[in-house]
Amino acid sequence: MPEPILDIRNLTKTYKRGTVALAGVDLTIQRGEIFALLGPNGAGKTTLIGAVCGLVRPSGGEMFAFGEDLQRHWRRLRRRIGLVPQELSFDMFDTVIRSVRYSRGMFGLAPDERRIEEVLRSLSLWDKRNARIRELSGGMKRRVLIAKALAHDPDLLFLDEPTAGVDVELRRDMWRQIDALRERGTTIILTTHYIEEAEEMADRVGVIDQGRILLVDDKAAMMTKLGRMEGRFTLAQPLASVPDALGALPLALEEDGSVLVYRGGDGQGQGRRQVAELAQTLTRMDIAFIGLETRQSSLEDIFVNLVERNEEHHTPIEEGAAA
Ligand SMILES: Nc1ncnc2c1ncn2[C@@H]1O[C@H](COP(=O)(O)OP(=O)(O)O)[C@@H](O)[C@H]1O
Ligand SMILES: [Mg+2]
Repeated sequence: MPEPILDIRNLTKTYKRGTVALAGVDLTIQRGEIFALLGPNGAGKTTLIGAVCGLVRPSGGEMFAFGEDLQRHWRRLRRRIGLVPQELSFDMFDTVIRSVRYSRGMFGLAPDERRIEEVLRSLSLWDKRNARIRELSGGMKRRVLIAKALAHDPDLLFLDEPTAGVDVELRRDMWRQIDALRERGTTIILTTHYIEEAEEMADRVGVIDQGRILLVDDKAAMMTKLGRMEGRFTLAQPLASVPDALGALPLALEEDGSVLVYRGGDGQGQGRRQVAELAQTLTRMDIAFIGLETRQSSLEDIFVNLVERNEEHHTPIEEGAAA
């Protein structure tokens, strides 16, 4: 097992008024991966990132970065960590290039105009380098935040909802940027509530809710393990209830009894088999259907299910037990 680039153990944070933002987070990030942290608003994503980046003082727990105690070797390790914050935060009167230069200096790195030019060009900001930040559009401001985070060549980069509120084109652009960084070997942790983004970008996905990590897994494994099959039979004649003979299957009637819906399966083909068998059974039972649509559930369904279950139980769902 390679040494993790970041290792968080039992991290807790209770804010002054008593809000528990992190309720004991364990998380291990491997070098070179893209990790997506998914969670609803208020789940604790920004707090978790803030703790690693030194903006939030943890209430308890330990953090190791690059194999060393992050809190003990703060100054040295922090310069290897980049952050694109969720909130737009800069001196609006500053120019683009000065603001990016400043970020580099803040981490005690020597000025490097070539690197700064490279970063600005890669983000299509070079032509705007002398513009004041307040003159830029929201999307451009977000690009400047990214430029600032890249100016000191971090090995570990946090992107906190980098694409919240940006248009589709810029979002695609950022995805390309993130891909390019991965190519360079940068480890990336991004938070998002756009499931599509996690689905598109991440190697692994973690789901966080109410300050707890509910599940961490390879994206593909998560979708296989928790993925469900949906089969919708449009009936020729509506049914008043699901026939008793089919009671063993995960079925529901929708749209005033005119659509019989199967939702289930173990992600290993069981769902597909059961839907096929159901089609035959219905025919045998003389229940005619005029349409059948099937689909595999997405990461979004998985996410919604996990978070809903967490709200019901207020307890973390153990990995494996969730399947
Ligand atoms: N500075 C703060 N003071 C008090 N409570 C806070 C502060 N920042 C965040 N919180 C609370 O902590 C919880 C987690 O917030 P946050 O980490 O911002 O979640 P997320 O980024 O997932 O939306 C929320 O209940 C939020 O209201
Ligand atoms: Mg946040």
